[in-house]
Amino acid sequence: MGADLWSDSVGTDDARGGRAGRRALVSTGHWQGHPDLGEVIVSEHDLHQRIEDLGVQITEDYADRPPLLVGVLKGAFVFMSDLARAIALPVEIDVMAVASYGSGTATSGVVRIVKDLDSDLTGRHVLVVEDIVDSGLTLSYLRRSLLARQPASLEVCALLVKEGRQRAPLDLRYVGFHIPPDFVVGYGLDVAERYRNVPDIRVYRGPVPVD
Ligand code: IMP
Ligand code: MG
Repeated sequence: MGADLWSDSVGTDDARGGRAGRRALVSTGHWQGHPDLGEVIVSEHDLHQRIEDLGVQITEDYADRPPLLVGVLKGAFVFMSDLARAIALPVEIDVMAVASYGSGTATSGVVRIVKDLDSDLTGRHVLVVEDIVDSGLTLSYLRRSLLARQPASLEVCALLVKEGRQRAPLDLRYVGFHIPPDFVVGYGLDVAERYRNVPDIRVYRGPVPVD
């Protein structure tokens, strides 16, 4: 019912037609007042500015050894796309997908590789691109698994780190933002596969899905 109410408020003919209209459909304001979404934690503007800075930093740090960016699907797909374009080096890109068992909004720490990399990591400078670190269990599993493949170096760039939640030691070379420990969606992050396309990071206020 909530979704119907909400779509009534934005489904005008104007918003559907023409270039300017389409732009209105995908703007941050489009999601304002959605019943499942709460306050904006990181705005589109702040995301893009910080990612530009990360790109400059990574370009300097890896100037003589262009890295292989390893995106962790699905959550990192939006971040990796913007980050890769902010790096002025001939990076290579690969992706892997992991699934962690747990409740709708928390990780159990039992992680499974659902799609593995195409690349051989031996001797490569690997930069893992992660959406969000909560307990840190997913990342510590990934790190162990990737280190076993003998890369020349392995660093992590995480867009978001939740404050005060880590249950495993973290060694994050690059962090976008430290955020409060609320469940958030948008900019690639989902709840039950939804809201990945929200262009900023928002608190999720809807029902907690059971899985
Ligand atoms: P961790 O293993 O507890 O650090 O959880 C990390 C993974 O859980 C992330 O890569 C996300 O896929 C997911 N996750 C953790 N917190 C959130 C959140 O607030 N929103 C959406 N996904 C999250
Ligand atoms: Mg993730």
